Amino acid sequence: MGLTRVVLGVLALVTLCVPLGSLVVDAVMEKIDGGGLINLGNRERTWTPYMSLSHLLSEIESITSYFSFRTFDPEGALFYGDTDNGEDWFVLFLRDGVPEMQIGKGDVLVSVAGGHKLNDGLWHKLELHSEGKFVVLKVDDHRELAMGLHSHEPDTSKEGYIRLALGGILVSEKKLLLPLNPLLDGCVKGGRWLNLSTLWDSTPRKTAMSCFPNIKAGSFFAGTGLAIFNTSDLPGVDPKEERIIITVNTSSTTLNGTILSLRSLQSHSTVLSVAKDTNSGMMIFKVNTETTPINEKFDEDLISFNVIIHKTSVAFETKNVSSESHLRSGDYSSILAAWNEGMLLAFGGVPEDGLDSGSDYMEGCLDTIFIQGQKIDLDQASFKDASVSSHSCPV
Ligand SMILES: *[C@@H]1O[C@H](CO)[C@@H](O)[C@H](O)[C@H]1NC(C)=O
Ligand SMILES: *[C@@H]1O[C@H](CO)[C@@H](O)[C@H](O)[C@H]1NC(C)=O
Ligand SMILES: *[C@@H]1O[C@H](CO)[C@@H](O)[C@H](O)[C@H]1NC(C)=O
Ligand SMILES: *[C@@H]1O[C@H](CO)[C@@H](O)[C@H](O)[C@H]1NC(C)=O
Ligand SMILES: *[C@@H]1O[C@H](CO)[C@@H](O)[C@H](O)[C@H]1NC(C)=O
Repeated sequence: MGLTRVVLGVLALVTLCVPLGSLVVDAVMEKIDGGGLINLGNRERTWTPYMSLSHLLSEIESITSYFSFRTFDPEGALFYGDTDNGEDWFVLFLRDGVPEMQIGKGDVLVSVAGGHKLNDGLWHKLELHSEGKFVVLKVDDHRELAMGLHSHEPDTSKEGYIRLALGGILVSEKKLLLPLNPLLDGCVKGGRWLNLSTLWDSTPRKTAMSCFPNIKAGSFFAGTGLAIFNTSDLPGVDPKEERIIITVNTSSTTLNGTILSLRSLQSHSTVLSVAKDTNSGMMIFKVNTETTPINEKFDEDLISFNVIIHKTSVAFETKNVSSESHLRSGDYSSILAAWNEGMLLAFGGVPEDGLDSGSDYMEGCLDTIFIQGQKIDLDQASFKDASVSSHSCPV
């Protein structure tokens, strides 16, 4: 019957709690209603859940948790529950948009994944309940996944505390069967967690970010932070074409600030940047310190531009215009080699030395970013400010 406790733990999934026994008193903790509209994203990239609670197991009466959930993000931790201080644990998360559940108990690790992709930006009703030795996940009232685990170990259930967490896990991420990018840009509402009415503990965000009422896919920059990639982690130079193509599409007509910038790690100088000024409606292509205003009205619904990086020159082009500039000779024998070795490519601003801040931040939505034809996910950035929503833009 060892599973029962795990299942109960799972069901309690609504909140992340530190068991009272080992509760670290944190004066900055906030109390949150688990039934409200909850934004799990816009936090530092971390395994720490957004919110948690712990409750006496003996007082748990319901074996069901349910909630509505909305995201465009393909990957992240949703709901976690454990007993025995993490000895028995359960987690529900998304990978490639598909729900996946894992149970860890002693040396045994069980994982099951399947069903429809849930990252379509629509609200879905999720329900978790236990049926004997099984944990069952229902999506929009259909049974989607069931996972069973039976252990011969004696069960000391109904003792101690159950902990619940949202948006992260309370055991080491090394316990997971496969690595996971934990931060989920998603929202939860109408949650009923093991029928508990307890308030959850939450670490307040630096900046309060609520859920956008309506969303579309894209990356939203609030104008207070950026995302930075090490180019050695990005698609590399095509040996035949000998160039890098970065394509950005945006439908934000009010977009203002620096959209992207490329910076050398050695000289700390900005090699190129693309900005938009909303007052003039002009795009500004800056190479080294030379500024080239792009003489084109960008007031169409969708702006799409390419930045093309050649060995010693860079170009900006849209359907109608193109502007090419040579890099200062001597700076780079080949900027493409520097790209492969590692430069800083930032979206939403110009990075500063600390690598976690910048200037000339952008406000607006980038619908899609492609590098060498590959779609870029801001969750893979080396640094992403908490104000950047990697997978959702307000509409
Ligand atoms: C849930 O809790 C409410 C009171 O908080 C109670 O009336 C109801 O019977 C409980 N439901 C279950 C299934 O335990
Ligand atoms: C983005 O722009 C590229 C190049 O113009 C285009 O091929 C692609 O379809 C666009 N993607 C979206 C989602 O609009
Ligand atoms: C656009 O950005 C520039 C500098 O980045 C700033 O001076 C200007 O006020 C911004 N305009 C709007 C409309 O936000
Ligand atoms: C590109 O040029 C065409 C034909 O001159 C024009 O109709 C269109 O509006 C231009 N597009 C942009 C983005 O300026
Ligand atoms: C970028 O990646 C390269 C190669 O992996 C590494 O040497 C360099 O330290 C990285 N730079 C930063 C700022 O992370």
